[in-house]
Amino acid sequence: MASLGHDVVGIDVDGPKIEALAAGQAPFYEPGLPEFLQAGVATGRLVFDTDMEAARGASMHFLAIGTPQGATGAADLSYLFSAVTTLLPVLRPGTLVVGKSTVPVGVAAQLAVLVESTGARLAWNPEFLREGHAIKDTLEPDRMVYGVRAGDESSVAMLDELYAPILASGVSRMVTDFATAELVKVAANAFLATKISFINAMAEIAEVAGADISQLADALGQDPRIGRRFLNAGLGFGGGCLPKDIRGFISRAEELGVGDALGFLREVESVNLRRRDRVMQLSRDEVGGSLAGVRVAILGLAFKPMSDDVRDSPALDVARRLLDEGADVAAHDPQAIEKARSVVTGPEYIAVLLDAIAGADLLLVLTEWSDYAGLDPVAAASRVRTRTVIDARGCLDADRWHAAGWRVLALGRAVPERATELVAG
Ligand code: UDX
Repeated sequence: MASLGHDVVGIDVDGPKIEALAAGQAPFYEPGLPEFLQAGVATGRLVFDTDMEAARGASMHFLAIGTPQGATGAADLSYLFSAVTTLLPVLRPGTLVVGKSTVPVGVAAQLAVLVESTGARLAWNPEFLREGHAIKDTLEPDRMVYGVRAGDESSVAMLDELYAPILASGVSRMVTDFATAELVKVAANAFLATKISFINAMAEIAEVAGADISQLADALGQDPRIGRRFLNAGLGFGGGCLPKDIRGFISRAEELGVGDALGFLREVESVNLRRRDRVMQLSRDEVGGSLAGVRVAILGLAFKPMSDDVRDSPALDVARRLLDEGADVAAHDPQAIEKARSVVTGPEYIAVLLDAIAGADLLLVLTEWSDYAGLDPVAAASRVRTRTVIDARGCLDADRWHAAGWRVLALGRAVPERATELVAG
């Protein structure tokens, strides 16, 4: 917002986070974000505060509060409602509160009643940004959705003015009611999760039928009705959004008495979790049945590349399961080691890639960082004890690794015959 020329104050209850932001330091790894932060802070158009009083006088108030998964699977809305309650006293007639948080359908209508009691108005304006691409997705979105009260032209005009530089590119902009705007976000994430689980279900078939999942995805993706994006088979989806959003969506549908409508999302989640089981099974099979005492090097901890986020990370879950089965785990990630270490203490975290694989009996590639696709299989072969790699993200050049003497297993492909197994040294 500051880069678009607006004066922005960012408010959070977390003092150390606010201090770091004010110094231009992003609280997580996001390419390009530190530069944007520092530029905004330097112009004086971007300031940070822990006191809601700093919001007084603003014409628009964005709600960008987390709605984590609660104990029952439903979204925990306590942070959101607490922030809005603190905001109410600084609102004045004519100001606009803009909801960005991902919420169960129906919450905007409840918040609107609170906000309107002050003479201010509410709009629901979901974002669809991906971690790792946050800046581009924010400044060049593929659509804008404004959920407003019927006939609230004034809120629409305010949002249009705010986003004028973005709208100038001709991006599609839809005006809807609150419920539709809320649903767009969760429905989009449910669809994406379903698409990933669809291809992962095909991977299960390919593994036993001897088909090649990436060729299958390429061929399916040629059909413009299907499309190739989000058809990458592998260890499945994780992160701070897709898993919790589908669980929250299921829970909300049940509350609304239409739980059956989303019954398939339970299957989407089961397929997703089965990919981790498959990696565990392949690992056990490769080492003769028991992982106890086996040195396993895992490459990747983040839920996806270009992120240091380990929330609901399939890679970190596999690390945990390996530890549970007694494996001696060495773990590498270009960005996520610190965050992983704060939640799982068992692995030996090693920041230098070739050191992380040293002495390994088994190598697992669990996040498709370009560092791993670029890893030289000859150099890697000289460091491990056994040249066996399980590529759970389909990111290695299997022929190259094979040529360097590796036994290469991948999700979505049949397990190769044992004839090629080699022991280094
Ligand atoms: C997602 C949505 O894409 C975004 O629109 C929404 O605003 C927030 O949630 P994000 O969580 O950043 O974004 O990650 P995304 O790129 O969607 O990937 C989610 C997970 O799916 C990752 O674990 C990724 O590895 C996995 N994935 C993605 C696949 O397994 N296969 C694919 O083809 C694509």
